[in-house]
Amino acid sequence: MRPLAVITGASSGIGASFARKLAARGYDLLLVARREDRIRTLARQFADQYGITADVFVADLIQQAELEALAEQVRGAPNLALLVNNAGFGTNHYFFETDAAGQDAMHRLHVVAVARLTHAALANLTPRAAAGTGVINVSSVAAYASAPQNVSYCATKAWMNRFTEGLSIELGAWRSPVTVQALCPGYTLSEFHDVTGADRSAIPAGFWMTPDSVVETSLAGFARRQLIVIPGWRYRLLIGALRLIPAALVRWGSVYFVRRFRKNKQDQS
Ligand SMILES: NC(=O)c1ccc[n+]([C@@H]2O[C@H](COP(=O)([O-])OP(=O)(O)OC[C@H]3O[C@@H](n4cnc5c(N)ncnc54)[C@H](OP(=O)(O)O)[C@@H]3O)[C@@H](O)[C@H]2O)c1
Repeated sequence: MRPLAVITGASSGIGASFARKLAARGYDLLLVARREDRIRTLARQFADQYGITADVFVADLIQQAELEALAEQVRGAPNLALLVNNAGFGTNHYFFETDAAGQDAMHRLHVVAVARLTHAALANLTPRAAAGTGVINVSSVAAYASAPQNVSYCATKAWMNRFTEGLSIELGAWRSPVTVQALCPGYTLSEFHDVTGADRSAIPAGFWMTPDSVVETSLAGFARRQLIVIPGWRYRLLIGALRLIPAALVRWGSVYFVRRFRKNKQDQS
């Protein structure tokens, strides 16, 4: 029986790249997303190209019943080897200006769904204690700072890092061979910024990465059982530097930046 990888948010970007790269490595796939046509097309394509079995699970993971149904499947899959909690989205507004339902959805997707599916996966994987199995949680470099207009995004990704770190400690205490990883990409070319409506040209070209390079770095780190993976030397340097600057100074800088940004916007309007 081939190992099975379950990937949420597999219909585009980083999730679709995980699917292709894992199929190429001989994994069967369960692709999860809301856009059925997209995941069905990808499943057919990967099955034909790599000779694996690719199934789809159409679900909106903020809906409790749909999340539960997927968790049951993850818990019971006899060949489960890898869960990639990748589904996610960003926002581009001040917290008090966004709709509360959108904030609720973000917490459900980044926190509740990740915790529920990870619980199901580890309940399946830890008794089997097979090397090379585990969970990858797709977090972000946003986990390392609080940014204006991204307050809940940064907070939920920080939770994801701390959650994964806690699991790694527990698994280590049990001498479990099961691996967990928090993958922390920076700006990656996907549909993410179309969803938020952000202007890609505002980010210097050198800071953009491709989903394929992010996923290659993640899978190489997973093989080494690396807990936190930050793809790209620029981001590793940035996060390293951020850790050396006193937190109060980072907060002051952020407030200064927002005031300048708002003033410029007001002057233009
Ligand atoms: N792109 C970046 O710059 C960047 C940087 C750091 C971290 N990340 C993280 O990387 C992950 C993947 O994002 P991406 O860049 O690949 O963006 P993307 O192309 O927009 O992909 C997001 C995926 O999440 C799925 N999704 C969204 N809401 C969902 C829901 N309620 N239920 C089920 N699936 C849902 C989408 O599928 P459907 O719409 O078909 O449901 C899509 O497959 C996210 O967790 C994001 O936070 C991205």
